[in-house]
Amino acid sequence: MPAIEAQQIHKSFLRGKQRADVLRGVDLTVDRGEIVFLVGPSGSGKSTLLAILGCILSPDRGEVRLLGESLRGLSAESRTLLRRDRIGFVFQKFQLMRGLTAIDNVSVPLVLKGISDSISQQRGRELLFDVGLADHLTADPRRMSAGQCQRIAIARALASDPELIFADEPTASLDETNGRLAMELFSRLVRERGKTAIVVTHDPRIYSFADRILEVKDGMVREHPTGPVAQTALIDSASQAELMATGS
Ligand SMILES: Nc1ncnc2c1ncn2[C@@H]1O[C@H](COP(=O)(O)OP(=O)(O)OP(=O)(O)O)[C@@H](O)[C@H]1O
Ligand SMILES: [Mg+2]
Repeated sequence: MPAIEAQQIHKSFLRGKQRADVLRGVDLTVDRGEIVFLVGPSGSGKSTLLAILGCILSPDRGEVRLLGESLRGLSAESRTLLRRDRIGFVFQKFQLMRGLTAIDNVSVPLVLKGISDSISQQRGRELLFDVGLADHLTADPRRMSAGQCQRIAIARALASDPELIFADEPTASLDETNGRLAMELFSRLVRERGKTAIVVTHDPRIYSFADRILEVKDGMVREHPTGPVAQTALIDSASQAELMATGS
């Protein structure tokens, strides 16, 4: 059973008085354990498609199945629970909560699930350790670098141990070194934990982290012309430690 299946997804938006057909029959299948990138021109509908696959937006037509479950018959409440429990999100601008420490940000998904403070904090601590921020548990993200903030956001996306991780331009706010470091971390954690991920990106410098690249164009999705790419090019652990030591 594939992790993610979409069939004949259509979505249009009103633009002034005109209706713009953004997605015009998108078919897509992502197997469990895959990291698939979605690329394509600005405005082509990548974020719209990600939001539909992530139960944030409903398609006008077509069917989405996540982990074998069709979204069509689900109530609003079931969709919310599916999104909360089985999907982790990473965004371009991190979307951390102001006024919360790093560990509290990572714990938010667990607190929302009603998990006790002590277990949430323990899990938050482990995850911040995993992303190289063990020394920043109670730091204020507003005083942290962009690279560190994205690592907090990656830790948060994994907090409730969701099977699916959706990332929308996770490296767009980062410089080349930090973008690469964030993707290395992301893909390593996703693979180690057996997650399935879709990453929307404009950034060809991180294409090597994809198992497969799909292009969104003219309302459709097709295999990217560059074809499949090699398995993740890992930065060796020594240079990663060095990069982290320089403060993200
Ligand atoms: N809520 C909305 N209401 C109206 N139009 C929308 C809405 N969301 C998206 N659109 C339009 O749909 C099209 C696709 O938008 P989307 O954000 O999915 O593109 P994208 O491929 O993610 O672009 P970018 O690379 O710039 O992020 C755009 O023309 C956008 O203006
Ligand atoms: Mg977008």
